[in-house]
Amino acid sequence: MHNILVTGGCGFIGANFIRYLFSRNDFTGRVINVDRLTYAGNPENLTDIASAFPDRYRFVKADICDREAMEKTFDANGVDTICHFAAESHVDRSIVGPDDFVRTNILGTFTLLELCRKFSRQIELFHHVSTDEVFGSLGETGHFTEKTPYDPSSPYSASKAASDHLVMAYARTYKIPVTLSNCSNNYGPYQFPEKLIPLMILNGLEGKPLPVYGDGRNIRDWLYVEDHCAAVWRIMQQGRRGECYCIGGRSERTNLQVVHDICNILDEEAPGPESRRKLISFVKDRPGHDLRYAIDCTKLETELGWKPQEHFESGLRKTVRWYLRHPQWVERVRSGEYQKWIETHYAG
Ligand code: NAD
Ligand code: DAU
Repeated sequence: MHNILVTGGCGFIGANFIRYLFSRNDFTGRVINVDRLTYAGNPENLTDIASAFPDRYRFVKADICDREAMEKTFDANGVDTICHFAAESHVDRSIVGPDDFVRTNILGTFTLLELCRKFSRQIELFHHVSTDEVFGSLGETGHFTEKTPYDPSSPYSASKAASDHLVMAYARTYKIPVTLSNCSNNYGPYQFPEKLIPLMILNGLEGKPLPVYGDGRNIRDWLYVEDHCAAVWRIMQQGRRGECYCIGGRSERTNLQVVHDICNILDEEAPGPESRRKLISFVKDRPGHDLRYAIDCTKLETELGWKPQEHFESGLRKTVRWYLRHPQWVERVRSGEYQKWIETHYAG
């Protein structure tokens, strides 16, 4: 694993993953970060990495569905490993407009798999980053495991499910060496403020309403993003080829609990005129809203010795502090300034 193609490396988890790799002594290779720079991709997440590692980090602005551009990238960089994060990732957007989800998540993954087939002599591993949402919804009890049947509810999760099936089919049919991970909800630095946690932090800071869908009793299993990155790297290094691994935080919370926790932390760290809880507003539910996600990650824990390191309470406080300490990042993302920068730097 010397020349690692990371797709979607300017997004939330991809950027954290690249930062994680360059913080480790056991990574001595190169990263080729391919990102189309959609609204969710921000190259500013990696400016310091680009300057610190000019010989080991390369950014390529390209669409993973563009076969010609991707083929050139595989060829010119001697890509031997792929860690595939690039996707349209937001459930609400997939409900309003599923087209980009089908295109990027299914066709994009297919394009990369076809290139793994073409460059099979040089490919050591294709790691596919997927989600627990492919399993659909749990009731009050039980956990998702690697054996849970797929039952996706949204266009987003259906497109991820399709991509997972393609990956496993290519492994069986063409003997592409793959690993696949299905992870629960991530939170942490650099998350685009459309997702629950950063949206609530920034709205809370600005005194705007905190929109909780339905009755706020839906449950998610939260994982600090660095723990996800560590799990992906562990699977890439030691995971059995052809296997899927579930990754989760063993940290179930209702959405309302999460929002209350954020309000409490904000009231302590950045006191305002009144308690942030007063901003909570219950709004119309998400269509097809999955009730509960919870991961049983025993396989990853026992086979590969990974465990989440961060507790939800400390991870959430760290996250709130990160947004408080990066007002410029927040301002550029909230105002769309970062996209203007992209347009001038990548014109044409
Ligand atoms: P994100 O939306 O923050 O980032 C996605 C990145 O992919 C962006 O940089 C975007 O520009 C890029 N991209 C989109 N379409 C592209 C295309 N056609 N070609 C090249 N690049 C493209 O997403 P994220 O939250 O970082 O999620 C990353 C991966 O992890 C996704 O595959 C997602 O399904 C999976 N995942 C996310 C979570 C979570 O909680 N965020 C949990 C489990 C799994
Ligand atoms: O489970 C993994 C998935 O987690 C990933 O595959 C997705 O890419 C990622 O976006 C995330 O999906 P969710 O839909 O669970 O995340 P989101 O932050 O959008 O919502 C979390 C919960 O909070 C969900 O039950 C919906 C609710 N919610 C969300 C928003 C944005 C609200 O109540 N209000 C909101 O404004």
